[in-house]
Amino acid sequence: MNKIFADNILQGKVAFVTGGATGITGGVARAFARAGARLAITSRKEDNLIAQKQFIEEAGGECFAVAADVRDYAAVEKAIAETAAHYGRIDIVVNGAAGNFLCKANELSANGFGTVVDIDTKGTFNVCRAAFDELKKSRGQILNISATLHYLATPMQIHVSAAKAGVDAITRNLSVEWGRYGIRVNGIAPGPIEDTEGMKRLLMPELRDKLTKRIPLQRFGKIEDIENAALFLASDAAAYINGVTLVVDGGQWLLGTSLG
Ligand code: HXC
Repeated sequence: MNKIFADNILQGKVAFVTGGATGITGGVARAFARAGARLAITSRKEDNLIAQKQFIEEAGGECFAVAADVRDYAAVEKAIAETAAHYGRIDIVVNGAAGNFLCKANELSANGFGTVVDIDTKGTFNVCRAAFDELKKSRGQILNISATLHYLATPMQIHVSAAKAGVDAITRNLSVEWGRYGIRVNGIAPGPIEDTEGMKRLLMPELRDKLTKRIPLQRFGKIEDIENAALFLASDAAAYINGVTLVVDGGQWLLGTSLG
């Protein structure tokens, strides 16, 4: 439970969160609801959406759930339109939907590479583009979740590194193009965060201790660490922050994200 920020810092805001049912962005969605925002969440998986909606509503929040694949522009447009119709506005968009698996570059198929780029990079663009009119009206903001894998180089992650580099480029470009409409566009680059699908898929259990020793703060991140960064960037405390991707990784990338 987050205790750093006041309960009402996002009161009156409507937040649309992709990948908002589970993992890091699932946590961000719940944190935004606790901070007073009304939530709209999307995911490909109906079951995950139902569970998250129930969790948020039982905690006293509001949650509108709509299944959509961020690769499908028409589906994204429909989800945004339904959210705007339901709540009458959209103030915050969080792009968290992401694909990942470990694969050596020389074994990765073109479709495998393209699938992750389509989910992460094209999906982020699709959602930003479809939400533009609503964000322009609300002078809202975008938060893109990327990673630090591409700052140096991370073996078996060429597809994700390329995709997340694209996400960071979208953050910078949109911050410049849409700042004139009062829309702030920022990002968060999480490091290794425990209790996430990403870590389950990416980290073999026997490598956990080795990785921990390579993190300057000597611990994995918690979903709550990302929630706190997201709450700060989404709040008025960050009113003059635009075009920034905030690294939340305990200093890990400075020592390299490769375990080799
Ligand atoms: C090699 C793989 C593969 C694997 C899929 N592909 N899994 N290639 N190794 N393990 C290839 C397939 O062979 C296929 O190519 C292509 O990718 C598409 O696969 P599909 O299964 O048809 O696609 P789809 O169901 O649309 O999506 C698959 C997926 C997705 C991208 C793997 O299910 C997924 O990523 N789910 C995980 C969600 C997740 O964990 N999100 C958190 C991300 S964490 P061919 O050529 O055979 O057709 C994150 C943080 C990173 O991003 C930072 C950490 C520090």
